[in-house]
Amino acid sequence: MSSNQDISKLVDGITSDPATWTNTSLISVTQLTPSGLDLLMNTSTQMRNLVKDQGGDDRLKHRVLASVFYEASTRTSCSFQTAMMRLGGSVIHVDCGSGGNTSSKKGETVSDTIKCLQCYSDVTVLRHPITGTVPDAVLNGGLQKPVINAGDGVGEHPTQALLDLFTIVDELGSGMDNGNDIEPLTVVMVGDLKHGRTVHSLAKLLARAQFGFLKRPLVLRYCAPDSLKMPNYVKAYVDEFGKRQGFEIIQEECGSIKDAMKNANVLYVTRVQKERFEKEQDYNAVKGAYVIDADLMKEAPEKMIVMHPLPRVDEISTDVDSDPRAAYFREMENGLYVRMAILALVLGKA
Ligand code: NCD
Repeated sequence: MSSNQDISKLVDGITSDPATWTNTSLISVTQLTPSGLDLLMNTSTQMRNLVKDQGGDDRLKHRVLASVFYEASTRTSCSFQTAMMRLGGSVIHVDCGSGGNTSSKKGETVSDTIKCLQCYSDVTVLRHPITGTVPDAVLNGGLQKPVINAGDGVGEHPTQALLDLFTIVDELGSGMDNGNDIEPLTVVMVGDLKHGRTVHSLAKLLARAQFGFLKRPLVLRYCAPDSLKMPNYVKAYVDEFGKRQGFEIIQEECGSIKDAMKNANVLYVTRVQKERFEKEQDYNAVKGAYVIDADLMKEAPEKMIVMHPLPRVDEISTDVDSDPRAAYFREMENGLYVRMAILALVLGKA
């Protein structure tokens, strides 16, 4: 099997042509064009129907996924493993967290470990705590088979952003469903926007999706403590992408969640990422800065959904869980369908 892992694929390489997916590593949301998003979202919906109707099928029979995690995970690793199994494939899961019980403890490089596992498997799902490790392994590691980025330090988490986009459209519609409604999509991102790779990928993906896929203007509101603000490079990407398309994407900083929630469609909450702080006192200074609870939800728009990549610590109180606007567990379920679609497309069996 030859692989499509050249650098040009990292920008705009993935379209509605299934050949652009086959054997292609998925490293960044910047790879996806609007038509590629259309194909992925439609395939994800088919996967949901498949699971609901008959549990799955055998299209990935005799295919093996190597699931390689150098950092903690519950949802991403388990949903990818389940996705593979529901399509008839098999999984080898390698837990390399702090070296785990693997050869990384003996000093083996990430590229060598992946190269070795690719001798046994057809596709690799890789998470690593050091930003840049996943793209570096793909672009410079001499790998032969596709790798899917399952979280690259504080960089990107593209499959989370894709399941988030699927959830937004599933919950709210694409914006043109009710005729010519061009109300903006207003997404409030709350919490640790500095270290949160999910919000980095989601902001970029929403910018890319704005008119091509979502067909409505975009407003992004950022709500974070001063030390955890959305990085300028992400905001600059969003801004430049909008301008290149000839549309301004409004990005606003908001101190108060109450203000930020006005006319919002999505409240996307994130955890303060304790493990990314060098000093515990810096974490203690910002932990608990924003908490969503049932009282706050009384002031939220009637149709605004609450999302969270999970795990949560204390930033969404459990008294919100029974609110129909709490979409975070539906979001998690969607992760299975979107990851089934990604695996099927990358392995040429969609
Ligand atoms: C996120 C991650 O790992 O970036 N979790 C996930 O994949 N669902 C968010 C987090 O850890 O806070």
